[in-house]
Amino acid sequence: MREPDATRYSHPVRSDPYEVFSRVYDQDVHLEIPQAFYRTLRPLVRDARKGPPILDLGCGSGLVTERIAADGASVIGIDGSKPMLALARRRCRRWGDRVRLLHRRLDAMRLAPEAHLALACGDVINHLPRLPVVKRVLGSVRRALAPGGLLIVQGYTPKQLEYGTGGPKRAENMYTAKLLRESFGMLDILHLAEHEDVVDEGAGHRGLSALIDLVARRPAASS
Ligand SMILES: C[S@@+](CC[C@H](N)C(=O)[O-])C[C@H]1O[C@@H](n2cnc3c(N)ncnc32)[C@H](O)[C@@H]1O
Repeated sequence: MREPDATRYSHPVRSDPYEVFSRVYDQDVHLEIPQAFYRTLRPLVRDARKGPPILDLGCGSGLVTERIAADGASVIGIDGSKPMLALARRRCRRWGDRVRLLHRRLDAMRLAPEAHLALACGDVINHLPRLPVVKRVLGSVRRALAPGGLLIVQGYTPKQLEYGTGGPKRAENMYTAKLLRESFGMLDILHLAEHEDVVDEGAGHRGLSALIDLVARRPAASS
């Protein structure tokens, strides 16, 4: 996959909450969501082993990135946080060239349109500042996908604010199925569901959570 043109597209990454949060993020208690996400993703990763790199959008400390590489696929992890990427680099070192990590803002990235699979695990979309930015990111992900390529996203719905069991605390960062369906006509939505499940990610992130899952495909005939 072609590297993004750093001169044209490398916007500076603004203030980073993960400067602080990265110190507690990468703990065993935090593994439940990436593990559950990866159980669903794994068959797709295995199918993608011979193809171009999988895109791990907002790869953070590399909890999913590493699993993808361990299953034999190559992967590009993209994240705006240097401390999180430093953790990912350490975690993924043993997989050598199979893992590439890019320090980029998702809303400013440009990648060659060849990925068959892109994913965003762990409320990455809720960390984007507002809906227009989420739309911009999904628009650029759509361009980075080959026709027919799949995008898998997980996040929180507004009800998560009542539960207070993790994720950002601002209502404007939470997304309902209706809102996502209305906003993403550029992708074919294959699965979009709100659900409530108990997750345990350690202190402050334990209990019933209001989640949303999206599986979408770049239309095969799109340009
Ligand atoms: C909750 S963490 C999830 C990390 C990882 N996907 C996981 O499941 O462990 C959210 C990640 O999104 C990244 N992120 C948020 N907004 C971003 C943006 N605009 N550009 C790039 N990365 C961003 C953060 O730096 C953080 O690492």
